[in-house]
Amino acid sequence: MARRPLVAGNWKMNGSRDSNASLMHDVVFEARNFPDVDILVCPPAVYIESVGRMLEGSAIQLGAQTLSEQGKPGAFTGEIHGGMLRDVGCTHVIVGHSERRALYGETSNIVAAKFRTAQLCGLVPVLCVGETLEQREANQTEAVLMEQLNAVVSLCGIAAFKTAIIAYEPVWAIGTGRTATPQQAQDAHEFLRAQLAASDAKIASSVRILYGGSVKADNAETLFKCADVDGGLIGGASLKSAEFMAICAAAQMREK
Ligand code: 13P
Repeated sequence: MARRPLVAGNWKMNGSRDSNASLMHDVVFEARNFPDVDILVCPPAVYIESVGRMLEGSAIQLGAQTLSEQGKPGAFTGEIHGGMLRDVGCTHVIVGHSERRALYGETSNIVAAKFRTAQLCGLVPVLCVGETLEQREANQTEAVLMEQLNAVVSLCGIAAFKTAIIAYEPVWAIGTGRTATPQQAQDAHEFLRAQLAASDAKIASSVRILYGGSVKADNAETLFKCADVDGGLIGGASLKSAEFMAICAAAQMREK
């Protein structure tokens, strides 16, 4: 089945009121050229609401970079509830980014709990999975992907993937300039889809799987041509309007 491409920008801990305004000015203007592509931006939490105002009247969607796993608001200093993200206009939230797994101790069980809370709050989770270089070199890529995916399937069930997005982000490709080859990306995406298909073929064929890790204007087209690559989760290049828009153009041109 045809899956609509999605290009998502993960700004990470970058931006300022001024730089956000200039970036969104350009992106909102240019995005009209890509009617066949879903575009999502995920600013740091403090800027979500103001960026949301800049997106008014455009088709660009708004997401957060993480959320609390807590099901209810309350005494959790520093945390942000999914309902609050909805309240300020988010439709999506990234969960399980490798930086959160590696630097902030998020285990696959915590990520699964965040995924569940996101859906209970009406947010579409963008579930990030991916192996380190060490794991790839030890031929553990599939085992790692399976463990990260299965934690969510076990807690939330296969039906949860009707309204979720997966992002395959090999850790060794993030921020390194070392992109996965189209074949490496395709193999991992095909593997993830096959894992889901073992439980439900229809859901597996409809879920969008994004590739993330040093996607740039000059490599997006070949990556997006892969049969199971449905777009990208973009870090550094999402902070530069020309790069980000060129990546959206690559998604728009994709023929499948
Ligand atoms: P880069 O595009 O900067 O490699 O980051 C990818 C990423 O981590 C997106 O979530």
